[in-house]
Amino acid sequence: MTRGAFIVVEGVDRCGKTSQTMKLVESLQQKNIKAERMAFPDRTTWTGQVISNYLADKNCKLNDQAIHLLFTANRWENVEKMKEKLSSGITLVVDRYFYSGVAFSAAKGMSIDWCLQPEIGLLKPDKVLFLRIKSDTQKSRPGFGEERYETSVMQQKVNKIYDKFSQSEDNWKIIDANSSFDEVHEDLLNNIVESVQNVANSNAPFKYL
Ligand code: TYD
Ligand code: MG
Repeated sequence: MTRGAFIVVEGVDRCGKTSQTMKLVESLQQKNIKAERMAFPDRTTWTGQVISNYLADKNCKLNDQAIHLLFTANRWENVEKMKEKLSSGITLVVDRYFYSGVAFSAAKGMSIDWCLQPEIGLLKPDKVLFLRIKSDTQKSRPGFGEERYETSVMQQKVNKIYDKFSQSEDNWKIIDANSSFDEVHEDLLNNIVESVQNVANSNAPFKYL
């Protein structure tokens, strides 16, 4: 049996990742492609709960390195589960991955190289779909500003690092996310179906960072 594709959707806060990834899984299933959604941070695990408290409580004092490594640990905790699902033919549509880890930590002033080190050895996505929105669109979305990191300055820095990734990484694709939900959805879906077919046709083994 061929494995499922490992798809990541990245982008700044409130760009539509959550609703799009949920709808994508439905649309893939309608096309008889086995698919499941995952999200990082995975707030259900032990590290996820610490992370969730940190994000919700702007007074929570945890140093930048420590929280960075907790986000990374939150991904390492899920590696076996992800491999099992992909091996059983399930395509994973993942809301954020280590690119967020690096982008948000580096936006706080940490070195990108340092941030990347603990991510080495994790599964590498087959495709990263980067939802790119204008900052005006972002600010107008409901809920923006509730959590730590949801400030314009922070988000602009994060966007710059995403732009760097989109130029340097071979698996990134920029998606214009300023248009309607349905248009963005179609664009994402077409890209994912193509990846699923590529992985199946080439019988691609797992790739690692
Ligand atoms: P977010 O996707 O907004 O979670 P939810 O949809 O549950 O609100 O992620 C929460 C925040 O965590 C977001 O501002 C990005 C940040 N983040 C990191 O700083 N490092 C990471 O490794 C990840 C995955 C996210
Ligand atoms: Mg959020």
